[in-house]
Amino acid sequence: MKFFIDTADLAAIREIKAMGMCDGVTTNPSLMAKAGRKDTDALLKEICAVVQGPVSGEVTALDTDGMVAEGKRLAALDKHIVVKVPTTYEGLKAMAELAGAGIAVNATLVFSVNQALLVAKAGAAYVSPFVGRLDDVGEDGMQLIADIVEVYDNYGYETEVIVASVRHPMHVVDSALLGAHIATIPPEVIRKLVAHPLTDKGLAAFMADWEKLQGGGK
Ligand code: G3P
Repeated sequence: MKFFIDTADLAAIREIKAMGMCDGVTTNPSLMAKAGRKDTDALLKEICAVVQGPVSGEVTALDTDGMVAEGKRLAALDKHIVVKVPTTYEGLKAMAELAGAGIAVNATLVFSVNQALLVAKAGAAYVSPFVGRLDDVGEDGMQLIADIVEVYDNYGYETEVIVASVRHPMHVVDSALLGAHIATIPPEVIRKLVAHPLTDKGLAAFMADWEKLQGGGK
C-alpha cells in the first residue's frame, strides 16, 4: 500500500519522507492556501524534488479549455506532476484530453461510484474519493471505497484508488483492508499511526527494569 502525504507543507513532507513513509504527495488549493506560499509552481517543483514520486497539483480553472491549458502548464513543471482535476462535466472532458496527451490525471472531489466509473473511462491515472467529507454528512465513506474497488476489479480498470479526506487512523486501516492502492494522509494522522499507549507503557517498564539492573550490579 502506498502512502501519499496530503499537504503542501514542505517541512512536514521532508520529515515524513525521511521516515520512508512518503510515496507521493497530494495538494489542493486549500492546502496551498494553508502553506501560505503564493509561488505555487515553485513550491510544487520543490515538493517534487524532495518526493521523487507522484505529486498532485490541482487546476483552478472551471472550464475544459482552461483546465487543459493549466494542466499542461502544471505537467511541464516536473515529470512527477500529476494534474488534479475536479470531477465535473467540464472536468471529465479535460481529463480525457489530458490523459490522451499522456498526462497523469488525479480525478478529485469524487463522491459516488458513477463518478469513479466515469473518470476511469476518461483515462484518469488516479481517483480520489473523499471519505471524511462523506462521513461528515452521515454517509459511509469507506463503503464508497469498497464499491469502487469492486467495480474497478470487475472491469480491470487500471485507475488507482487514492483514499482522500482521511481524518483518523481507522480510515487507514479500512483502506488497507479494502485493498485501496493508496491513502493520502495528513501529516498529523501519519504521526498518530505510530502511537500506541501499550508501546509507551512497555518501553517505560523496560527502561525502569534496565535501570534497576544497572543499579543492582554495583
Ligand atoms: O486531498 C484532498 C482531501 O484529502 C481533503 O481532505 O480533510 O479537507 O476533507 P479534507
